Amino acid sequence: MNKLNFKGSVMLNPTPVVLVTSISKEGKTNVFTVGWVSTVCTKEPIIAMGVRPERLSYEYIKESGECVINLPTVNMVKVVDYCGVVSGKKVDKIKHFNLQLSEGVSVSTPSLQSSPIALECKVKSITPLGTHDLFLLEVLNVKVDESLLDSNNKICFNKAKLICYNHGEYYGLNSKPLGSFGYSVKKRSKSKSTLQ
Ligand SMILES: Cc1cc2nc3c(=O)[nH]c(=O)nc-3n(C[C@H](O)[C@H](O)[C@H](O)COP(=O)(O)O)c2cc1C
Repeated sequence: MNKLNFKGSVMLNPTPVVLVTSISKEGKTNVFTVGWVSTVCTKEPIIAMGVRPERLSYEYIKESGECVINLPTVNMVKVVDYCGVVSGKKVDKIKHFNLQLSEGVSVSTPSLQSSPIALECKVKSITPLGTHDLFLLEVLNVKVDESLLDSNNKICFNKAKLICYNHGEYYGLNSKPLGSFGYSVKKRSKSKSTLQ
């Protein structure tokens, strides 16, 4: 296949897309949309997030030293988009959508009730990079909707109907996995062998 070359840019797609809640010094909650976010370490559990200093959320997260990463579902796409184009400096986005909040467990920042999974984080470091500052966030506690657990208490992420972001567009995930971790090296069972 013939490949064309584009100048270096962040064409890392798809990415997660999340709703990040944060609180001001006075305890006011804001929410904004983040696509530049990724797991970077398992132990300690660290997530990297890129935030532009002009965001209201930047100020709140820097001052409070914490935030909550709320994973949105297909039913929340409109909230995701709106919170990514309208600043809390102009509109109270929580009130606008009448978003219900749940109290934090390990942080003072509340999470969004409508998100089935919420990661409570503390800021470990902030590094200026250019347009965005790199926030390294340590995950202190994860809230998971009971309804996502199976009878063995395994979290079934496929039930959560999460979304991702692909070069300017929001997508739901296929409910059927293409494979599971390590499947490529597992011994084939006689009855279920497949060619892939
Ligand atoms: C899909 C999507 C992804 C975004 N990702 C980021 C991001 O990673 N970092 C960032 O600083 N802003 C990002 N934004 C923009 C902010 O969410 C947006 O400027 C928001 O209005 C800031 O809100 P605030 O001022 O209330 O904090 C994204 C917007 C959208 C729609």
